[in-house]
Amino acid sequence: MLMGTQIETGGADMKQLIQVVCLAAFLPCAAALAQAPEYNADNRLVLPADYREWIFLTSSLDLNYDQAVPGAGQRSLLDNVFVNPQAYGVFSKTGTWPDKTVLVKENRTAASAGSISKSGKFQTAVASMELHIKDEARFPGKWAFFVSDGKAPAQLMPQTASCYSCHAQHAAVDTTFVQFYPTLLEIARAKGTLSPAYLKEERATAATPGAGR
Ligand code: HEC
Repeated sequence: MLMGTQIETGGADMKQLIQVVCLAAFLPCAAALAQAPEYNADNRLVLPADYREWIFLTSSLDLNYDQAVPGAGQRSLLDNVFVNPQAYGVFSKTGTWPDKTVLVKENRTAASAGSISKSGKFQTAVASMELHIKDEARFPGKWAFFVSDGKAPAQLMPQTASCYSCHAQHAAVDTTFVQFYPTLLEIARAKGTLSPAYLKEERATAATPGAGR
């Protein structure tokens, strides 16, 4: 009985070990290689070919950081934010991002009338793409921002660009705007990874009459 149990346990352990070794050796490595940021000879970031199969975080319409209402005649933009699945898996467990995280913000022009639509807004062509990359060995601040027209490899934004300061000052987790990604916000809250600055901002907003409507 004891022997049998030991053999059975040993067998199960062995199977598990083989599974772990195989998984470690092949699948995640292949996936990790495919998902790691890739740069060309000009230091540009190669656009990840399969980002539309990654984890979808949010879609926002006309989020504007400078003015409350888009100016008259200004075209509407809808954005879609994606993250590589491996980084999403780590975030789900820890509430923060691992090295080699790739976040893609795809900005699409919105149209309001077309096909059977009489009102509302829907997405059309890609107008631009912005990428936020965590590559600790490569960038002094661990993270870097890139922009692209959606086709050509993306260009690195200099450290002095407003991308860095706005994200550093206002983003809820590790310079990423998790407060706008509903599935991640509660994970970060539960794991206690929301930045002190964001928590302060959140308390101030909650205390403002009329906020949150
Ligand atoms: C004044 C504030 C502000 C500035 C400046 C800014 N962003 Fe953002 N960014 C945001 C906000 C808010 C979001 C989240 C909501 C959204 O737009 O979908 C965001 C989201 C992003 C995301 C999705 C991943 C993440 O980090 O949350 C990327 C990629 C991104 N921005 C790139 C850029 C780039 C590139 C620049 C500079 C060219 C830039 N941003 C400048 C406020 C800013």
